[in-house]
Amino acid sequence: MKDIADHLFDIFENSVNAGASEVIVRIANTENHFFCSITDNGTGISGPEVLDPFVTSRKTRRVGLGLPLLKKAAEDTGGYLKIKKREEMRGTTLQFEMDTSHIDAKPFGDLAQTFADIFFAWPEMVFKLYISTGGSEELVLDFQRLRLEAEEGLVDLLKLRKHIYEVAREELKKIDIG
Ligand SMILES: Nc1ncnc2c1ncn2[C@@H]1O[C@H](COP(=O)(O)OP(=O)(O)OP(=O)(O)O)[C@@H](O)[C@H]1O
Ligand SMILES: [Mg+2]
Repeated sequence: MKDIADHLFDIFENSVNAGASEVIVRIANTENHFFCSITDNGTGISGPEVLDPFVTSRKTRRVGLGLPLLKKAAEDTGGYLKIKKREEMRGTTLQFEMDTSHIDAKPFGDLAQTFADIFFAWPEMVFKLYISTGGSEELVLDFQRLRLEAEEGLVDLLKLRKHIYEVAREELKKIDIG
């Protein structure tokens, strides 16, 4: 069974496949209510038909399952997944919410590991993670900034991955994830 961390990695992979160079993730988790939005600057999603498992731009398999499965996981808890095409510029925003106290809710999995893995797999990506708490939003991860800091100190990718894991884990703990 896929957990939320696996789903996030899939969504990120979709953005990469759509040619995105920038991905911004926003999450909030209050009173059993998990919110997540992912905005990229890729080619943009054509329409809601991508939520149909038979719509895919894959060449190797004719069924795309990433989005339909996440949509189902959200809806199984009374939540939703929606796609917003960004009119003003290139790209896509996906947004989903889940009731984490619902009996059918999937576990979070290791979200911090997902962010660290994303960095390791696509180190050049402009990636930002924002966490909202009580109405205010804080930038907790910024790959670009970390890369710059690392270049000055000549830190290698593996060390940076570990650092990202630790920062993400600490920040997620503050909102009761992990
Ligand atoms: N961020 C995105 N930008 C542009 N198009 C997207 C994006 N995310 C998904 N799509 C489109 O929606 C389709 C369905 O995505 P989905 O993740 O459900 O399946 P897939 O990526 O094709 O296959 P799988 O995830 O099962 O490997 C993709 O093939 C792609 O055409
Ligand atoms: Mg996919």
